[in-house]
Amino acid sequence: MKLGIIGYGRIGQMISENLLKLNLINPDELIISNRNMKKLNKIKEDFPQITITDNNKELAQSADKIIISVESHELLDVLGQIKEELENTHIIHTCAGISFDDIKEVFDGPVTVIIPSLASRFQQRENPQKGISLIVHNDKVNFLNSTSIETLFNEFTYVKILPSENDLEIATILTSCAPAFISLMVKKLSDYTVDNSSLDYSEAKYLIIKTLIGTNENLSVDKLNIEACEDMIDSVCTPGGITEKGVKHLDAVLDKEIDQLFEILFKRYKDN
Ligand SMILES: NC(=O)c1ccc[n+]([C@@H]2O[C@H](COP(=O)([O-])OP(=O)(O)OC[C@H]3O[C@@H](n4cnc5c(N)ncnc54)[C@H](OP(=O)(O)O)[C@@H]3O)[C@@H](O)[C@H]2O)c1
Repeated sequence: MKLGIIGYGRIGQMISENLLKLNLINPDELIISNRNMKKLNKIKEDFPQITITDNNKELAQSADKIIISVESHELLDVLGQIKEELENTHIIHTCAGISFDDIKEVFDGPVTVIIPSLASRFQQRENPQKGISLIVHNDKVNFLNSTSIETLFNEFTYVKILPSENDLEIATILTSCAPAFISLMVKKLSDYTVDNSSLDYSEAKYLIIKTLIGTNENLSVDKLNIEACEDMIDSVCTPGGITEKGVKHLDAVLDKEIDQLFEILFKRYKDN
């Protein structure tokens, strides 16, 4: 089996590194192409048996499955370049905002969309599962192909299979965009702390991250329901205390801000 990855940007690199560093694929079974070959030098140095190229057709000739991870507006062009080489090849793409109908115009075979998250970047071999990968298959993907790609991604992410494309947009915001939103919150809280105390960035970040991890554990263990959030808020809020005041303030501000945030993101998603 030969797996091809077209596009070695942030997502292509995240997927390639997980596959290779977790021994999920033999290096000689992986072929990676990128427009700019220089980007591939480091991974080729680390895993000399992989094949690298800037020729997508050459990749398509030898790969049994192809993951395409180029900018969304490039996806149909890339499919157009390689379509003559595809013989029922399973195409997996990560490009947000491109529908199965858009793809059908160029390639009418088995297609899976996987929306990964950079929260799944390789960190260590132990407990490598991190972040979510959203998966939707079109009706041409057979059971063998669907389970094999789901199983592969499940090694380094938590796979969430969505029944249709319709929920992809909102789910993408929760899983792919949210690492940036959460990081921005951590940064803003750290900035304020550093400006208004003797703590430095690493101390502020340590306090926030350890609290985030503890909160996460409280919210997720056996409690994947919304009441767990309310329980946590109630437990932390002493009546009349500072947390209660803060929660009331945020509650009032966030409804409006979150509506606006989703509005902006939905608009951008459609413009892809
Ligand atoms: N970033 C995220 O968190 C995230 C999450 C979920 C989904 N996605 C989706 O995943 C896709 C990739 O995102 P990204 O963040 O990885 O983008 P990126 O960092 O901009 O990477 C895109 C890569 O594709 C390469 N490329 C472009 N056209 C090519 C072609 N014709 N042949 C070969 N390689 C080509 C680019 O090469 P050059 O180096 O030459 O420019 C670049 O390395 C996007 O569609 C995005 O919507 C991203």
